[in-house]
Amino acid sequence: MIALVTGAGQGIGRAVALAFAAQGVPVAAADRDPKGVEHHPGITAHVVDVADARQVDALVDEVERTGPIGVLVNVAGVLRTGAVVDYADDDWAATFAVNATGVFHASRAVARRMVPRRSGVIVTVSSNAAGVPRAGMAAYAASKAAATHFTKSLGLELARYNIRCNVVAPGSTDTPMQRALWTDAGPAAVIAGDPAAFRAGIPLGRIAEPEDIADAVLFLASDRARHITMHDLYVDGGATLRA
Ligand SMILES: NC(=O)c1ccc[n+]([C@@H]2O[C@H](COP(=O)([O-])OP(=O)(O)OC[C@H]3O[C@@H](n4cnc5c(N)ncnc54)[C@H](O)[C@@H]3O)[C@@H](O)[C@H]2O)c1
Repeated sequence: MIALVTGAGQGIGRAVALAFAAQGVPVAAADRDPKGVEHHPGITAHVVDVADARQVDALVDEVERTGPIGVLVNVAGVLRTGAVVDYADDDWAATFAVNATGVFHASRAVARRMVPRRSGVIVTVSSNAAGVPRAGMAAYAASKAAATHFTKSLGLELARYNIRCNVVAPGSTDTPMQRALWTDAGPAAVIAGDPAAFRAGIPLGRIAEPEDIADAVLFLASDRARHITMHDLYVDGGATLRA
């Protein structure tokens, strides 16, 4: 059984790939730039753009020649911030192409393999921004809401085939994507929150490590979660008050 992880080149996806490898699960690590996982024992690095259906289908064919994909983790994502009134068409299209359509491409290609086998697990790393409005992040939040609801709906379609589909919704997590949002004060402003931006802080008082998110992914992918599907697990230190 192979775990296919998209967006595995850095950040959360890399932590997920390393966590599976540490458990002895062979990992196919796919990314536009997979350098961060090259040459790790148990991990095979693949170059893919999840926005391109043909590339994704070819990747799944290639990985399946080495063994069955038992787990798909959709982690690839992009964040392009900006007020809606100033937001460019290209930024909207690119955001949806990766965050929503990319999840569809990978899930469809892998589900086609899993259905005849009557087994498999899909976990999509979405965002807590899918559940609460975020100023300056409308496109991102909408794309993540699409990914979340797609994954849950897929879980309903595939339940009869013994395939579980779940979502992990991270809050602020220490990765290159997150650090691009920090000011000179580092993560302090993110942890404190910003009432003027209608943004609550993080009650647990810390930014997540990528491994915190990987732990939730590995649990949902494991047999210990065998009765859990269509679930949306927030790993955000309480930032969204689970609203
Ligand atoms: N870091 C956070 O605070 C945070 C919070 C909530 C949700 N998330 C989500 O978690 C996921 C991982 O985020 P991260 O913080 O590790 O981000 P990151 O930017 O550090 O890493 C994202 C990875 O995805 C890859 N990628 C981007 N577009 C791709 C494409 N079209 N095809 C293949 N690979 C592609 C990048 O090359 C990169 O390696 C994303 O979906 C992100 O939206 C992150």
